[in-house]
Amino acid sequence: MRTDMRGKDFVTLMDYTGEEIQTILDVAFDLKRQNAMGAEHELLKNKTLGMIFAQPSTRTRVSFETGMTQLGGHAQYYSEDNMQRKNKETWDDTGLVLSRYLDALMVRLYDLEKYGMARDIMNQIRAATTIPVINGLDDKEHPCQCMGDLMTIQEKLGTGWKKKKIVMSWAYSDRVKSPGVPQAMLLACSLLGADLTLAYPKGYELDEEYMAFADSAYQKSGGKLSITNDIYEASTDADVIYAKSWGSTRGMDKAEDKEYRKQFEKDWCISDKHFSLAKPVSYYMHPLPAARGEEVTDELIDGPHSIVYDQAENRLHAQKAILALLMKKK
Ligand code: CP
Repeated sequence: MRTDMRGKDFVTLMDYTGEEIQTILDVAFDLKRQNAMGAEHELLKNKTLGMIFAQPSTRTRVSFETGMTQLGGHAQYYSEDNMQRKNKETWDDTGLVLSRYLDALMVRLYDLEKYGMARDIMNQIRAATTIPVINGLDDKEHPCQCMGDLMTIQEKLGTGWKKKKIVMSWAYSDRVKSPGVPQAMLLACSLLGADLTLAYPKGYELDEEYMAFADSAYQKSGGKLSITNDIYEASTDADVIYAKSWGSTRGMDKAEDKEYRKQFEKDWCISDKHFSLAKPVSYYMHPLPAARGEEVTDELIDGPHSIVYDQAENRLHAQKAILALLMKKK
């Protein structure tokens, strides 16, 4: 168990080891149990988390705010529009000043002109601040979502990461979404040595940097990565099908992407047809919000395979673990 994460940023799982990821999960389960028993766990009394949302959020905002309250601290919400960012105060000055008041800063930022621009700003904020910076979804990664997802998979399937077929799949949606979830899952699975199948139509390959990191991590962890462009092949014998839409990381602009993806609408709307190929006990995952009727059928997301609300709940417990480890008192 590797517990010394105090003061670290949580922007990319590339900065964490498999052992550290497993430690965060262990702490998350501990906090979930304490919460279930009504035990006080005010580990961050008098600490303040700032949260900048340049994009809307339901789960991330509410789970972080609630998590800080349960840990005895406080969370503050800012949108880019109600800060002096609106009058073009620089990200450097914003980050530097906020780190004089706060104990940690969460940032959500994506959907800028070009893929990668949000991560560049996230790194700029990291450099300007002296407090932990937590990525609440940028254009490359959604590491907090991923920790809640891993917790949910562990609850359902245990920690035998090498023995279960986890499928991380593209799904159709008219909306072009961030590849943050699949890229975080790729990193986490490679570090934990999980059996991961990536499924997507040609054109939705993940970022080369993430693929290279995963290849190298898999060599050390001994897990297995498979890639297919056939969603039915991917679904066969799956334990988990985690399917969501994402946009091109390799140059297609939004308008081109919206047009190109239309041909995949029928086969990549995940339904009971896909789950008829999966293992009898198998799970459907989605980070929400889901594009019902596009990414997934109502029957599937509301049916017995679906664990999407467990995922949403586990955001709270997993993020509390991240906050407790990064912000703990000396
Ligand atoms: N999954 C997720 O990040 O949800 P929100 O956009 O509602 O925060």
